[in-house]
Amino acid sequence: MTRTVIRGGLVVTASDEIHADVLIEDGRIAALAASGTSAAEAWTGDRVIDATGKYVIPGGVDAHTHMELPFGGTFASDTFETGTRAAAWGGTTTIVDFAVQSVGASLREGLDTWHAKAEGNCAIDYAFHMIISDVNESTLKEMPKLIEHGISSFKLFMAYPGVFYSDDGQILRAMQVAADTGGLIMMHAENGIAIDVLVEQALARGETDPRHHGEVRKVLLEAEATHRAIQLARVAGSPLYVVHVSAEEAVAELAAARDKGLPVFGETCPQYLFLSTDNLAEPDFEGAKYVCSTPLRPKEHQAALWRGLRTDDLQVVSTDHCPFCFSGQKELGRGDFSKIPNGLPGVENRMDLLHQAVVDGHITRRRWIEIACATPARMFGLYPKKGTIAPGADADVVIYDPHATQTMSAETHHMNVDYSAYEGKTVTGRVETVLSRGEIVIEQREYKGRAGHGAFTPRSTCQYLN
Ligand code: URP
Ligand code: ZN
Ligand code: ZN
Ligand code: ZN
Repeated sequence: MTRTVIRGGLVVTASDEIHADVLIEDGRIAALAASGTSAAEAWTGDRVIDATGKYVIPGGVDAHTHMELPFGGTFASDTFETGTRAAAWGGTTTIVDFAVQSVGASLREGLDTWHAKAEGNCAIDYAFHMIISDVNESTLKEMPKLIEHGISSFKLFMAYPGVFYSDDGQILRAMQVAADTGGLIMMHAENGIAIDVLVEQALARGETDPRHHGEVRKVLLEAEATHRAIQLARVAGSPLYVVHVSAEEAVAELAAARDKGLPVFGETCPQYLFLSTDNLAEPDFEGAKYVCSTPLRPKEHQAALWRGLRTDDLQVVSTDHCPFCFSGQKELGRGDFSKIPNGLPGVENRMDLLHQAVVDGHITRRRWIEIACATPARMFGLYPKKGTIAPGADADVVIYDPHATQTMSAETHHMNVDYSAYEGKTVTGRVETVLSRGEIVIEQREYKGRAGHGAFTPRSTCQYLN
């Protein structure tokens, strides 16, 4: 039995901040005791970590990543190995990635493919949601079986006709199954049919630059799809989780639904909180680095996202980490913005950017942990194993230095992508040491982890529904 004691830090969870020592036994949190008390001082460990002046926080739970995703004629550039290593560097110890059903194949085949990509390669624990590309009689029947195997959430797309798109009838049917079986529908809420018309018209006018990606994917078409998804979920009697919310008007739809008491949840991402259409408009095709969907919005939307995070109209910040190199991948869309692979890197940056939001006064320290660790764990059936520091929880722990500063850069990051979306941004706060189930992954900013330590983690159903 290995024992680790973390001494003298400020333990921050979603609910508490206490100066406590943490005892870890056999990969789990065994006990907490106020620092300096005889109970805490009596603890001995094979390893003692001095956390004086540091925060001791639960490892981050990033509930939206796309390692190795096939998209836009290429693959997201982080593998499960490189992406989970980078996640650990950034203080994230669990990812929930998206397995993809290909049209014509079963959900099970898609899931098996993603298991094969991840197994033996991850530095930290991982779980899967399922993207349903083809809602039909047989895939609907498979949904409850997946829930039994720990895949309790299903992403549907109102965008990307001809790729992942589901029509309203398909969405309603999947929501009905979710309502009956405890599944959670995750929605990419953009009116993709209307957007495709605007894409075609923009290209015909010669509007081919990356900034036009933001112009055709209109705020109104995100808000409309968000509203429609909420109404369909009401008809089906199912809960709904809207992913990558970027527009103020979409937050308003979520807030209105929640004010009615509906089980409707919203996620936003660091890129919508810290970047804007100004980035998409960067010259010399640099804007392509910021092409993702939903798109970046004018800066004015950010205040509504921060407010939503404070008022709990938005509950989760995930990254939607889906990196494509500028060279050779983003460049596929030179001369036609619609061919730029969609997605931004960020799995390594999320915890730090959200700590900067604490420093800037947007959210409190406990809310940081709530939106980045505890709520994503609860939302997707991983709590209290993940997302908190409490007896019995997995010892996924980060020693965080709240005073160190760092400058984000592709020169120093660990993600397998040739640019940083936050190049040159200096933030206060930095990960120092990371444990995953009691094992050291990062020690004083040195990587000590290994591919294959990370384990598939089956999930229960959403823990906000009962
Ligand atoms: O642009 C994005 N978000 N790429 C990843 C796929 C998705 O829609 O989440
Ligand atoms: Zn999406
Ligand atoms: Zn409200
Ligand atoms: Zn995504």
